[in-house]
Amino acid sequence: MKSILVINGPNLNMLGKRPKEHYGTKTLDEINDLMYKELALDIKIEFYQSNSEGDIVTKIQEAVLNSYSAIIINPGAYTHTSVAIHDALEMFTGLKIEVHLSKVDEREDFRKINFVRDVCDKTFSGKKEESYLDAIRYLNESLKD
Ligand code: DQA
Repeated sequence: MKSILVINGPNLNMLGKRPKEHYGTKTLDEINDLMYKELALDIKIEFYQSNSEGDIVTKIQEAVLNSYSAIIINPGAYTHTSVAIHDALEMFTGLKIEVHLSKVDEREDFRKINFVRDVCDKTFSGKKEESYLDAIRYLNESLKD
């Protein structure tokens, strides 16, 4: 069975309390529910969130060893800082989808630095929770036999 690992980085567990103009009003649990509902029936999904860079690297390494079909990752602020997450993603041979709630390329200059984009196959950003749902729709199509 095809399988997707969804990884959310720091502060994404606090959605609902973060600035609504960038991140919307939904909590992470609500977004995960919406993703689950959007997912094709024959694909498995696992949700993971951590505020720790090392834990995210370890989780990606597990995905490398356990051959998931795809990773959807919103690395949060680590997008702009983490060579370690870049290097871990580089090892994963399945599909890699970068997701952001906000228009990350149109905000402060420091958010324009991006360590994950060049190791991902596709990016969905700027549509709040819809960015995640677009990622699921894309994978529903791409993982079809
Ligand atoms: C984010 C954008 C990042 O710049 C920020 O640090 C986040 C969330 C987004 O989803 O728009 O925590 O990745």
